[in-house]
Amino acid sequence: MSDVLIIGNGGREHALGWKLNQSPHVKKIFFASGNGGTSENISISPNEINKLLDFAKKKKCFIVVGPEEPLSKGIVNSFENNGLTIFGPRKEAAELETSKVWAKNFMKKYEIKTACFRTFSNIEQAKDYVQKNDKKLVVKTNGIVAGKGVIVCNSKQEAFEALERIMVRKEFGDAGSSVVIEEQLCGEEISFIIMTDGKTIIPLASSQDHKRIYNDDKGPNTGGMGAYSPTPLVDEKLHDKIMINIMQKTISGMNNENRKFRGFLYAGIMIKDGEPYVLEFNVRMGDPECQPIMMRMGSDLYKYMEYCVNDKLDELEYMRWSKRSAVCVVMASKGYPRNYEKGKKITGLDKIITNTVSVFHAGTACNDGQIVTNGGRVFGVTAVGNGIENTIKNVYNAVSKITWDGVYYRTDIGKKALMYLTKI
Ligand code: AMP
Ligand code: GLY
Repeated sequence: MSDVLIIGNGGREHALGWKLNQSPHVKKIFFASGNGGTSENISISPNEINKLLDFAKKKKCFIVVGPEEPLSKGIVNSFENNGLTIFGPRKEAAELETSKVWAKNFMKKYEIKTACFRTFSNIEQAKDYVQKNDKKLVVKTNGIVAGKGVIVCNSKQEAFEALERIMVRKEFGDAGSSVVIEEQLCGEEISFIIMTDGKTIIPLASSQDHKRIYNDDKGPNTGGMGAYSPTPLVDEKLHDKIMINIMQKTISGMNNENRKFRGFLYAGIMIKDGEPYVLEFNVRMGDPECQPIMMRMGSDLYKYMEYCVNDKLDELEYMRWSKRSAVCVVMASKGYPRNYEKGKKITGLDKIITNTVSVFHAGTACNDGQIVTNGGRVFGVTAVGNGIENTIKNVYNAVSKITWDGVYYRTDIGKKALMYLTKI
């Protein structure tokens, strides 16, 4: 039996904790710094690596890292150097997410399909490229800025404006000192996540996120407004293509670069004419994809993580998955992904009494027993059930019971799966 320290404070970390808590090998779970829905919170932020190290050394716990930022700062390198057991990629492997320029060049080198691209650190050259290009483009900051550094442009004018915001007004700071400009791909976007120890690749269940703030994928990108699993968009044939042409190539390419990848690896994939193209890599679990995926996972997550950090995944079978569907609806604060208010009193949580629904907390805090809003994405309400249609109804029924002043959520989460299923 082991104590676990989960680093992070979102819905993803609450869902990982919910699942790890079911393991017979887990004694106690600490969250740094957690949220209003997690217990045993310690008040150290995910980026205070030295303080986290002191805590983990004292408790001798198994550490699971949720978000990318501590990974990009080398938390795994530092903990491993101190003899601790930590689940996640080392800094040099995390570059797959933390530098879009590096990731795009890596994909080119290892012939992993992705949108055609050029990289620039000089604005005049970037503008010239936009001027001469007749395709619709996407402008991306090289560094990570919580999902906000990607601007999908529908005209040259919008691309110029994006370059201006990134490279002249420096709205995204240093992350925008160089940019990737790539061709806009049209198709359906899905999330494909694996667990790997750098040798063996274990695929998790497929899922689909809803990135834009408004229904029908309108408005600006967010961290994700809801997700469901499995997605009918990933059939067996596509699954095999993704495993062979993307995941295996990536893991062996990383070994070849001397950047062995260990942990969760998430590929955001656009399916265009039946072919999978990588939009981005994330070196961690998806949020909110994690919430429905955890609710369907039949295997002991802790055991897989433990085998993964010991490079023994080849000793385990593929994971077991419930045949049921899971749907997660993100309830957000009015104004997200831009400015929003915090501290709004939340009511109705006590009305959710079925074990087919889990209310995973994200931006919440607990003030003297009262749960209040404390972030942009507040909850990931997640239902599991037979069939996607029925599960969508159940999740929205639960969502309708929870409220606060300024609550916002999309009302079409999962609709794409229904549309696709009625088409085939
Ligand atoms: P990224 O962080 O690179 O995945 O970009 C965030 C979101 O922007 C993606 O989830 C897509 O919805 C969109 N996006 C990024 N790159 C492209 C592209 N080449 N074509 C179309 N949409 C894109
Ligand atoms: N749901 C998108 C992400 O985790 O980056």
